[in-house]
Amino acid sequence: MKIALPKGRIAEEVLEIFEQIFNEKFEFESRKLVFEKSGFKFMNVRNWDVATYVEKQAADIGVVGFDVITELNSDVLELFDLGLGKCRVSVAGIKGDDSYKNKTQIVVATKLVNIAKNYFNQKGIPAKIIKLNGSIELAPLVGLSDVIVDIVQTGGTLRENGMEEKEVIMYSSARLIANKNSFIEKKKEILDLLDRIKEVYKTRKK
Ligand code: PRP
Repeated sequence: MKIALPKGRIAEEVLEIFEQIFNEKFEFESRKLVFEKSGFKFMNVRNWDVATYVEKQAADIGVVGFDVITELNSDVLELFDLGLGKCRVSVAGIKGDDSYKNKTQIVVATKLVNIAKNYFNQKGIPAKIIKLNGSIELAPLVGLSDVIVDIVQTGGTLRENGMEEKEVIMYSSARLIANKNSFIEKKKEILDLLDRIKEVYKTRKK
């Protein structure tokens, strides 16, 4: 079974779950992008690419943020909420300044273009979306946008830049996802693994 994991802490935490299940060491050697063990092939991919690897069946299953699958509108099966990487997607802006609420059109800087568009559309608020790739918090500070739509985890980045969360759009956490064909072809393997992952969660809660 091929498994796509997002580079970094979440991959490490998922591999720890595998260690608990199989009682073996599961880890990527430095700079290695794949490794195989106990019938699994693990792939180390960028967070934003996990859903693509799974959707195209280069991986059978994967772990990815709910924010990412929502933004990409990925055609995958969501199997389980792993509860890792918890965060919110929020509208944020300069602390104490709510003048954006009185504008006829709000300028919004974001990496999450579709989530932002849908949110303001549903509220019936005209919004001009500016796509950025990172350091989104800078945009309102230098007049590029009125507000941002971005991921908030600890809130530290906002605080340190004189900004605040204005509206929470959605809550997110890492989800175990599967390719739809793989789920049919490898149903037993995938469901067995899912059961064993759930077992680990049960013992952790005790
Ligand atoms: C994310 C997000 C915020 C920050 C939020 O950025 O875009 O900037 O984390 O975390 P906090 O609430 O704990 O401060 P990331 O580190 O992914 O960098 P980027 O947005 O510049 O790509």
